[in-house]
Amino acid sequence: MVSAPDRRQYAPATERNRDPILEVLRQVLPPQGTILEVASGTGQHCVYFASALAPRRWLPSEVEPELQASIVAWQTRHPTPNLMAPIALDAGDRPWSIETGTLPPNCTAADLEAEPISTIVAINLIHIAPWSVGLGLLAGASRLLPPDGILYLYGPFIEPGKPLAPSNLAFHESLQFRNPAWGLRDLNVVEAAAAAEGLKLQRVAPMSANNLSVIFKK
Ligand SMILES: C[S@@+](CC[C@H](N)C(=O)[O-])C[C@H]1O[C@@H](n2cnc3c(N)ncnc32)[C@H](O)[C@@H]1O
Repeated sequence: MVSAPDRRQYAPATERNRDPILEVLRQVLPPQGTILEVASGTGQHCVYFASALAPRRWLPSEVEPELQASIVAWQTRHPTPNLMAPIALDAGDRPWSIETGTLPPNCTAADLEAEPISTIVAINLIHIAPWSVGLGLLAGASRLLPPDGILYLYGPFIEPGKPLAPSNLAFHESLQFRNPAWGLRDLNVVEAAAAAEGLKLQRVAPMSANNLSVIFKK
């Protein structure tokens, strides 16, 4: 008998950053509701965060089909009742797929009505995508989040008045080499674009390896 291929992908950074991120999420998340994760990547984060943050419901999403398959594969090995199957979602789209009826098989519109989206999480997305995707993320968060809803961003940023750490400067240059539309975002620019969408900067928390947790409230 031929066994099915293991479609799990691995991103080593997720194992280094998941506990510090979880600590901040515990401080800022509402006690209930659905957390929509944009750009879930391999799926390692969502299986870890969903079980740690129950009873909140965790809804992962990804734009890349191979990564959607990886998320499903991680979920198969770590089944968690409050973890939904991933949906296809491009943060740059307007509207988002979830707004036009795309739901995972284990979550109905009634489920989502009972546990509405209270938080949107995007880890290591906006510097590895064109700024139009960052703007799409802020606009989508503004459309979907209720008053007091949380948008949580994690990643390296350019902070006003602070020289970039050498590792972040090298990372920025390598991103721009791969794609000139990519690169670390200026926190002031992100804050202004968020404010234009009705999202107020709540907190900036320094994280390991010169990353930040950046938290906005609707
Ligand atoms: C560096 S990975 C981070 C993945 C995961 N959040 C993590 O921390 O491991 C960047 C992710 O952004 C996703 N991505 C890129 N463009 C996107 C878009 N327009 N909408 C949604 N996700 C996107 C990629 O597919 C990839 O999974």
